[in-house]
Amino acid sequence: EIAPKTADALLSWYDAHARALPWRAAPGSNAPDPYRVWLSEIMLQQTTVAAVTPRFAAFVARWPSVEALAAAPEADLMAAWAGLGYYARARNLHACARSVVERGGFPNTEEGLRELPGVGAYTAAAIAAIAFGERAVVVDANVARVVARLFALEQPLPAAMPALRAATDTITPDLRAGDFAQAMMDLGSSICTPRAPHCLACPLSAGCAAYRAGNPEGFPVKRAK
Ligand code: ADE
Repeated sequence: EIAPKTADALLSWYDAHARALPWRAAPGSNAPDPYRVWLSEIMLQQTTVAAVTPRFAAFVARWPSVEALAAAPEADLMAAWAGLGYYARARNLHACARSVVERGGFPNTEEGLRELPGVGAYTAAAIAAIAFGERAVVVDANVARVVARLFALEQPLPAAMPALRAATDTITPDLRAGDFAQAMMDLGSSICTPRAPHCLACPLSAGCAAYRAGNPEGFPVKRAK
């Protein structure tokens, strides 16, 4: 059976190759702080890992908890966000922090997280998986490319998103769902790259339909112009 093998192979690869990013817990350790997971996911919505990493460190040094962030003057938060772009995110961040403090903590389900300001479907799934271990289906742009290739999906993006979510669902494990999601992101950014993917180093190549077809770069299929 392909699905459990895919997750097992990916998680073994992640245990050896995970990027040590400041919002992650060490592999195999307890789940990371929901505050840090939430803050990192908001920052990563439209900003690269390289740009977010130092800004995230500065944010959590200044505001180490959601309570601290909620109590900060909004002007301080907006100033600290400078350069990250998409300033609606910073305003939502403050509103969200206050809402979380009012509720007595972060909701611990995908559905509950979805109610927070600035937390859309993708972000709710990512936080539920990474911070709470929920078996949520997490599909960002990197994951979409990996899955389109694994299944040699013939539909172009964005029309393929429902099919990509369904396909991702079939390979998402019950255990370590957060590590699985982040492993898919890392695989997409380091191995299963848009151009010249490194299939010989990929832990999933044995089960990859696009690799088998000799055409990994052909997926996701481009929309006809
Ligand atoms: N992009 C969005 N969330 C991420 C995460 N947790 N790790 C790496 N890249 C990401």
